[in-house]
Amino acid sequence: MSTDTTGTAARDGEQRAGGPADSPFIRACRRRPGPHTPVWFMRQAGRSLPEYREIRASVPMLESCRRPELVTEITLQPVRRHGVDAAILFSDIVVPVAAAGVDLDIVPGTGPVVAEPIRTAADVERVRPITRDDVPYVDEAVRQLVIELGDTPLIGFAGAPFTLASYLVEGGPSRTHAKTKAMMYGDPELWHALCGRLAEVTLAFLRVQIEAGVSAVQLFDSWAGALSEADYRRYVLPHSTAVLSGLVDAGVPRIHFGVGTAELLGAMGEAGADVVGVDWRTPLDVATGRIGPDKAVQGNLDPSVLLAPWPVVETEVRRILDQGRAAPGHVFNLGHGVLPETDPDVLTRVVALVHELSSRRADQG
Ligand code: CP3
Repeated sequence: MSTDTTGTAARDGEQRAGGPADSPFIRACRRRPGPHTPVWFMRQAGRSLPEYREIRASVPMLESCRRPELVTEITLQPVRRHGVDAAILFSDIVVPVAAAGVDLDIVPGTGPVVAEPIRTAADVERVRPITRDDVPYVDEAVRQLVIELGDTPLIGFAGAPFTLASYLVEGGPSRTHAKTKAMMYGDPELWHALCGRLAEVTLAFLRVQIEAGVSAVQLFDSWAGALSEADYRRYVLPHSTAVLSGLVDAGVPRIHFGVGTAELLGAMGEAGADVVGVDWRTPLDVATGRIGPDKAVQGNLDPSVLLAPWPVVETEVRRILDQGRAAPGHVFNLGHGVLPETDPDVLTRVVALVHELSSRRADQG
């Protein structure tokens, strides 16, 4: 599939030679030099694309995640349009939780809403283990996508125990995570039982994706930044470590991402990541000082910058590429997901600019 609209013949040749494992994205995750700095965008599938909105107009979110032909089409849309260096599976962090038996829905404009929030030991029992047979549509979609994508790597993903627990305990999105923290501080035994189960579900879900052929995985702990480092280490790190260390033998790079995690970057790396995602609050050179030289970084353009005039975007892209050079590997991305109001053409221009600036650097270097 010819996806890289900015690619040179030499670059395409190199990708074809080795398949996804030799792609610029996987090379950067593994801290190996590549032909250019790879770029993809969190939440690139869906959100800002009119071709996505057209498909989704008549299909509810969770149903679209369970139809392999739709998952395949939506996952491919941003690759075709922008020439990004990686695809991310179209799904949602609550898909495996629903498969595990929790009654929930994704409400347009709101997010995940849980019918009966989890508050007691009996509630925790409702989160049961999953196998491939609970998510056959994910297995099928990944297998199809790996064929369609050719040399372009596919990223699988899951939500981390803390972020999933937050939705399950609160019953929906929350600014303060107050009920979640009340359980964490007030009944640590129950908290650890819940997170232990969620870690099992997450690990199984990622293993299904890896066995079906994804080239890398990202663990989204979007709301971990709500915690101090001490509490993160005590209440969350063991569970995220169980997920990431459970994938050591799988042989694919593991990306660990959260928002507002400046104080947690070191710990999130320690959980067992090859790449640590960094939001826009911490410059990548500072971040890599906190994470250490044995991990790559991913990020960290503020998604709101994409709404500004192009010269502003260009200045920020240049700054991030420069600061990213301090890291042993850099995957260009946003600091959080694409905002729905983003002009898709700006995303395409950012991809071309990142490729152009980083290829020139390689030629000169
Ligand atoms: O990155 C991608 O393009 C792949 C698809 C993807 C979705 N959700 C599709 C989606 C991914 C990677 C996610 C992850 C996700 N889901 C996270 C972690 C990443 C992050 O943004 O922090 C979280 C916290 C969720 C939970 C969730 N799902 C929220 C908060 C929402 C509502 C807000 C929103 O983004 O619109 C969803 C719904 C959702 N997940 C939509 C999509 C395309 C919108 C569905 C709709 O209403 O049309």
